[in-house]
Amino acid sequence: MVDVLLGLQWGDEGKGKIVDYFAPHYDIIARFQGGPNAGHTLYVNDKKVVLHQVPSGIFHENTTNLIGNGVVLDPVTLKRECDTIRSFGVDYRKNLYISERTHLILPTHRALDKASELSKGTEKIGSTLKGIGPAYMDKTGRNGLRVGDLLDKSFTTQYIKLRLKHQKLLDSLNFHEDISAWEEEFFEALEFMKEFKIVNGEYFINDRIRQGKKVLAEGAQGSMLDVDFGTFPFVTSSNTISAGVCTGLGVPPQKIRDVIGVTKAYCTRVGGGPFPTELHDAAGEELRKIGNEFGATTGRPRRCGWIDLVALNFACMVNGVTKLVMTKADVLDAFDELKVCTSYLVNGKKVDQVPFQLTRVTVEPELKSFKGWKTDITALQSAGSLPAVMKQYVAFINEYLGVKVAYISNGPGRDQLIEIQ
Ligand code: GDP
Ligand code: IMO
Ligand code: MG
Repeated sequence: MVDVLLGLQWGDEGKGKIVDYFAPHYDIIARFQGGPNAGHTLYVNDKKVVLHQVPSGIFHENTTNLIGNGVVLDPVTLKRECDTIRSFGVDYRKNLYISERTHLILPTHRALDKASELSKGTEKIGSTLKGIGPAYMDKTGRNGLRVGDLLDKSFTTQYIKLRLKHQKLLDSLNFHEDISAWEEEFFEALEFMKEFKIVNGEYFINDRIRQGKKVLAEGAQGSMLDVDFGTFPFVTSSNTISAGVCTGLGVPPQKIRDVIGVTKAYCTRVGGGPFPTELHDAAGEELRKIGNEFGATTGRPRRCGWIDLVALNFACMVNGVTKLVMTKADVLDAFDELKVCTSYLVNGKKVDQVPFQLTRVTVEPELKSFKGWKTDITALQSAGSLPAVMKQYVAFINEYLGVKVAYISNGPGRDQLIEIQ
């Protein structure tokens, strides 16, 4: 049996914390897409950790963690991350497995990412520049190198061939950067990677599912960044939605049970692209300040706005969400008034669906107002103790989406999560 936990907005919904919380109830936590563009924050012994590629179950002794074939993996970032994990006294080699089909991010992919962003002029994606797009392009272009290739003696020859191809591309884009230091680190990290348990991920996971083990597939980014269904071209390069679990881990769709969708009680986006409910006023500033909305991977300030039910409804539909987790509800504690987007005015016409192109039309959010609860909720532990005004806010969202908020997160800490009956 496989449950999926993924983001429903533009990423950074708090997936890392929620996976860490649920991890003890699962045997395996598996990442199925994305790469080091992700930054998943959790707290271990009250110390903050940001994971980029390693699944967020790594701090639980009895949980197996798998980096699936759908991920693009940067060995250098992995090595750094493993050093951090070890500093918490955790032996990552015991519980961390990598699929041999996982594609590698090379130093030239990072350079190509930069070159591509530069060539976009004013229409920049706002990529994290971790080489994600170019690595996935080499996968679909049938050029990429995979983790399993590392064990082959032709690896260096294959690497040099691909590197030459990339160099030609970089030259044609007139992009020049000395990547020799990156390459040195890369080859060091490859040696380090050989110590890992490199497995055939699809047999590994299906065998365990057959034995009755429980798997939690951990999404990265968010549904509105999905390469097919997000705000293209301002998206990432993978399928972030639940369908990505099948291709990213090799599990059949019938094995998927719950799809747990994570949404903030408001909304953020980092990088370029449309964001209908974005606030450019004092309320947006307040959300950024109270919510500490700065990127976990790049440190960039996140754009902030009200919760967008049109986009969330779309995300629930394409993912088949069965349960919602609402995070960062405590960030709204001090607000007198809250707003919720219930429809868009697209070129003056009211719609309740996400249009094909949000950038080539004028989109005005239609907002419904709610009274703020004006209560510090960070120490609350039960659904019954939540302010009545807050319950109204949540009930409206439940009804609009036709899916229930099953958990409310009221702070970054491991224990700050309230189950709603
Ligand atoms: P992810 O990428 O979805 O895992 O999310 P990030 O880690 O990038 O960003 C979420 C941020 O919000 C992190 O700094 C978390 O520690 C923090 N966070 C998570 N849940 C809560 C919550 O309920 N309240 C508050 N105040 N912070 C939270
Ligand atoms: P987690 O898993 C938020 C955004 C980037 C950029 C776009 C493309 O922490 O939620 P890429 O590096 O993939 O070329 O960037 O996607 N982006 C994220 N935004 N959270 C993430 O991951 C993101 N990963 C990528 O800012 O706009
Ligand atoms: Mg993040």
